[in-house]
Amino acid sequence: MKHPGCSMDLKQVASEVSKKSKIKVSPKDIERLLGAIRKSSDPWDIIDKSDFPVPAVFQSIGILKELGLVSVSKKGFKLTSHGKDIVGELHPVEDISCSSCGGRGISLEGFSDIKEKFLKIQKRRPKPLRKFDQGYVTPITTLFRFALAFERGDIVGKDIMILGDDDLISIVLGLSSLPNKITVVEIDKRITDFIEYVGVREGFKIDVQTFDLRHPIPKGYTKEYDTFFTDPPETLDAADAFIGRGITTLREPGSAGYFGFTRREASLTKWHDLQKLLLKYKIVFTDIIHNFSEYINWGYEEATKAWRLSPLKIRPRKNWYRSALYRFETLDGFRGNKKNYGRRNIYEDQESSTT
Ligand SMILES: [Fe+2]
Repeated sequence: MKHPGCSMDLKQVASEVSKKSKIKVSPKDIERLLGAIRKSSDPWDIIDKSDFPVPAVFQSIGILKELGLVSVSKKGFKLTSHGKDIVGELHPVEDISCSSCGGRGISLEGFSDIKEKFLKIQKRRPKPLRKFDQGYVTPITTLFRFALAFERGDIVGKDIMILGDDDLISIVLGLSSLPNKITVVEIDKRITDFIEYVGVREGFKIDVQTFDLRHPIPKGYTKEYDTFFTDPPETLDAADAFIGRGITTLREPGSAGYFGFTRREASLTKWHDLQKLLLKYKIVFTDIIHNFSEYINWGYEEATKAWRLSPLKIRPRKNWYRSALYRFETLDGFRGNKKNYGRRNIYEDQESSTT
């Protein structure tokens, strides 16, 4: 299959990458990667713009290099002159999202007090730990998540559950004084201590719990909440555990769930599998907002699989890991995930690269 404006066989490259990386990659993915290399030479920026799993992007770079289309040097990834001829008029990939909301479609204008306070408070937060697969979002992202949920009617007077809160949305919720109840389930005591400390200082109450999400949610927490937030690791089992558990905490039809899911560690095939699995719980997706969440480079890059796979060992200059924000509502007859995963490692798969 030839693409208009490009005289190479993208389908052939895609199938070779899929075979070698064991991650399903489409001609469209390769097209976007080439479009990204037209606009940038920084490996992490190219991954961000290509929007498919890191191991497969680096595999593609290897194959494109073998074909003499891309060069790899200290300056980054570049199209060779042969590459430029072949790529021709392919769609150049660049970020043209709205500069005030970053493409999130929501405004923080009404929340300037909360914003100012939160930006100050979060500076003293505990740093991410690799053993918990932590990588937290920018404080602005947390504020935007809050604003979106506010706008969708999921905050004011609501009982809110947060499954894993290294993004500290419970603090934003507390500062707003808008929810009726806030519960945080979090495994890292440094984070729960920090949240409780801020709560005491700022005069709001957060119910903090510790339980392992590989086991079913304790009884007192099922069907008790109107809204939940989570940002699961990107394997199917972990996403099912975190999101599925979230659904069991929801009270009634029309309750809402929010979660992040990236394409840096999940192919569209995995997206499809996840969507299919969640739809079985009788929920409906109302929003999927591309690149809504931006993650701060977590400081343990050199220890990750992404780093080992990279043909170029240069540290990211700017944040490159982003995820889509999903929102859904429950329907009549909804149910959650009561599976017990025991002590299995459910946090890694072929497509993951940041653990
Ligand atoms: Fe905007």
